[in-house]
Amino acid sequence: MTVSARITGTGRYLPERILTNQDLERMVETSDQWIRERTGIRERRIAADHETSSSMGAEAARAALASAELDPREVDLVIAGTCTPDGMFPAVASRIQYAIGAPHAAAFDVNSACNGFLSAISTATQFIGTGAAQHAVVLGTETMSRILDWSDRTTCVLFGDGAGAVVLEAAQPGEPGRVEAPLLRSDGSQASLLYATGPCTPGQAGIEAEARLVMDGRAVFRSAVNAMADICSDAIAAAGLTVDDIALCVPHQANERILAATAKQLGLPMERVFMNLDRYGNTSSATIPIALSEASDEGRLQPGDRVLLTAFGGGLSWGAMVLEWSGVRAPLATAAVAAGARAS
Ligand code: COA
Repeated sequence: MTVSARITGTGRYLPERILTNQDLERMVETSDQWIRERTGIRERRIAADHETSSSMGAEAARAALASAELDPREVDLVIAGTCTPDGMFPAVASRIQYAIGAPHAAAFDVNSACNGFLSAISTATQFIGTGAAQHAVVLGTETMSRILDWSDRTTCVLFGDGAGAVVLEAAQPGEPGRVEAPLLRSDGSQASLLYATGPCTPGQAGIEAEARLVMDGRAVFRSAVNAMADICSDAIAAAGLTVDDIALCVPHQANERILAATAKQLGLPMERVFMNLDRYGNTSSATIPIALSEASDEGRLQPGDRVLLTAFGGGLSWGAMVLEWSGVRAPLATAAVAAGARAS
């Protein structure tokens, strides 16, 4: 399936507080060297007490709208990928829809854990393909720090907080910009490998229940490499392309070794794999839109480029798609807004 849809704006928001590997050495039995060698992560951002997935998402959405030079009243769809909502409801997307001033937009969340952004943008693509929406704001936004067990060294060193957003619009005839082969998969039989408890988990005590992330890291590692390599091959083939046609892969940022093994299996050189996980760790559904925003601001994406997106996470769930990049309208606006947000 190919839909004429273009990303016209990208934005991101990263909380100000930085938690380094050295900081973690003082919290659990770990070392900077172990974390860097096993994951590639050096530091991650942690939300302030007053920050939530919706407040960070709203900042990222504003930056994306500025970069798209789009009036929020033109937005008719807001979809947030998140597995760390402010509360059970209302949806994070509804809170963002109000915060950015988009009164005409439908708004809802999708939760497929780290694959959330790909599920969200696949859904938005269908809305645009059928003409049901013209201008969508699509987000990944997460406050992972609130569901981590900070005494569990096997998980707490891996994750961070942040938000990314894109504006996805219908491309007019003759305009560049396509979404090709959005593929999504799930294997619920492997749910126990990576999950988080919550207030509705049986045996949890209502409002006193704590959300907590649990993971079998080794098993997830193996599944992630095979699943992402396979679905990327399928997406590239479905788009009628070969791996040589891919200008840049912007993958979910979980672990440098997972990305290296996946790229090797695909035959994709690492120079064409975008990575920023050293600075942010795994921000779950937010990794891809944050990375797209940085890649765009750094000039690593040119109009006409074929860009491969792929993710893997709890569910298990995973996905891939190929974008024909159209170029955002005001590429540096996002950098200015994100820098302003950091400075404030
Ligand atoms: N610091 C120091 N030692 C640690 C540690 C930490 N933060 N976490 C685990 N260890 C220890 C283990 O206890 C184990 O010790 P042992 O040999 O005495 O039992 C040893 O390091 C090796 O553990 P192992 O789990 O085999 O390491 P690994 O090479 O598989 O790396 C992960 C662990 C978590 C980094 C890796 O499995 C991984 O990245 N998995 C995927 C996780 C992920 O990205 N999930 C999200 C996907 S969306």
